[in-house]
Amino acid sequence: MIRSVVVGWGAELPGNPVTNDDLVARGVETSDAWIAQRTGIRQRYIADAGITTSTLAFMAAQRALAKAGVPASSVDMLIVATTTPDQTFPSTATRVQGLLGMDTAPAFDVQAVCSGFVYALSIADSFIRCGQARRVLVIGAETFSRLLDWSDRNTCVLFGDGAGALLLEAAEGEGTMADRGVLSSRLYADGSKNELLCMTGGPSSTQDMGHLQMTGREVFRWAVQRMAESAILALEEAGISPDQVDWLVPHQANIRILQSTAERIGIPEEKVIITVEHHGNTSAASIPLALCEAAENGKIKAGQLLLLEAMGGGFTWGSALLRW
Ligand code: ACO
Repeated sequence: MIRSVVVGWGAELPGNPVTNDDLVARGVETSDAWIAQRTGIRQRYIADAGITTSTLAFMAAQRALAKAGVPASSVDMLIVATTTPDQTFPSTATRVQGLLGMDTAPAFDVQAVCSGFVYALSIADSFIRCGQARRVLVIGAETFSRLLDWSDRNTCVLFGDGAGALLLEAAEGEGTMADRGVLSSRLYADGSKNELLCMTGGPSSTQDMGHLQMTGREVFRWAVQRMAESAILALEEAGISPDQVDWLVPHQANIRILQSTAERIGIPEEKVIITVEHHGNTSAASIPLALCEAAENGKIKAGQLLLLEAMGGGFTWGSALLRW
């Protein structure tokens, strides 16, 4: 059985960290204590003018290729999960494809907001398993700071910018849960919840971008419920118990969401990869950034079983089991 195995990874965080106190100094009516206590966030990265989502994605992709030791010309497909494309069109993926010099390999964006990376990973895995691609770059990249209304302290303190990339490669597996690579993935959406987390504008409605709008408490409640239930279902379907999971790698929205979800699944906090404190919520970039950091600092090791889970605007949500 063909499996999609991670052979390279890379990340990019723009510029210097912006602390909660820096936000106060910039005029946001908040405090380090409030943000840290409600969200766990201590700092985030904010891209300077001129740095775009494709810049961050390109940097992360280059590092993933270097880690794998393969040229961009050997990659069959490139997918960018993003909510903050450089332009309405062409896609950010085609810009990155061009920057990498990938000749005619297909490239496209996936828009599922904070679940974007799990969606993109699942799509890449499908292409690999059905034999249509051997190597796929899957990138989550955001300049989410560009969507924020800096006068809305309810939302502007939560998000940050960054990119993370994984290079997936086809490998022969036994068809068991002991294989390396993507073992399963599950995607969901519920469009009746559009209004709880959205931008107020767009090309087809208002012809401008609008700003981010969120009903925080409702989003919190649904995020815990949906991420936990999809993760539990993924484990049940795979016949894996929570204690067999080496690392839970959740979308990094808020420390309290991460803790509550892990508790419902039955995974102790010491087995949860947590980066929200120094990245903030980087939407589609948050899972690959967390994976890269944990792989680089030696927490995640080859052969370990990871459970990824995410939930975002739409609502969209999903999970994936991945043996590193
Ligand atoms: N600094 C100081 N005070 C603030 C701030 C701030 N940045 N933001 C809000 N407040 C105030 C409010 O005005 C309110 O004051 P009031 O009582 O005088 O009206 C008070 O703090 C409490 O506000 P609540 O909204 O009740 O605070 P809550 O405990 O619900 O926490 C939060 C808000 C952190 C947004 C929470 O609802 C949450 O985490 N929701 C999930 C949202 C999330 O993570 N979204 C990310 C996108 S979705 C995803 O990635 C899954």
